[in-house]
Amino acid sequence: MRGKRTTLVHLIYFSRLSLSSEPQLRTSQIGDITRQAQKKNEFSVITSFLMIDQNFAAQVIEGERTLVHETFNRITEDQRHRDVLICEWREIPKREFVSSFKVVVRGGPSEAQFAKANLMPAFQRGTPKASAILALASALQTDAMSKQGIDHLFI
Ligand SMILES: Cc1cc2nc3c(=O)[nH]c(=O)nc-3n(C[C@H](O)[C@H](O)[C@H](O)COP(=O)(O)O)c2cc1C
Repeated sequence: MRGKRTTLVHLIYFSRLSLSSEPQLRTSQIGDITRQAQKKNEFSVITSFLMIDQNFAAQVIEGERTLVHETFNRITEDQRHRDVLICEWREIPKREFVSSFKVVVRGGPSEAQFAKANLMPAFQRGTPKASAILALASALQTDAMSKQGIDHLFI
């Protein structure tokens, strides 16, 4: 018999990034966040997906309830963004994301999915829907995986 599973939750938030407008510096700042987050999330068995659309960030974080809580507390204190607002925080039956930390910036190959999701007006009003953020993250993950030839595992 398998032991009782711990409570899985996901937390979806959005925020306003305070990153450099200089492209090279901005890329290296996103690289710094990625390195820190990947290491911590692997340790806490967190899976997550971060999307960056101009100066807005939206992230889905999945994992054991207390570990998601601890991770989110650290994230809200980070000076690299502000106005961090939770859209949804609930129990989930299973994880949807496969990486400890994956970030996709709007533009190039991701442009079509971001344009289709059209989150910007809702970000600006401060009312993005959790379901819309989740759907975009899921579509971007599917695209990324099919590029790697992994499109049969998660149907
Ligand atoms: C948009 C954004 C997303 C982040 N996502 C994560 C994350 O998923 N997990 C994580 O541990 N840290 C994440 N961080 C970094 C944390 O805010 C923090 O800097 C990092 O966990 C190190 O915390 P510490 O300095 O208290 O050790 C994120 C930061 C930003 C700005």
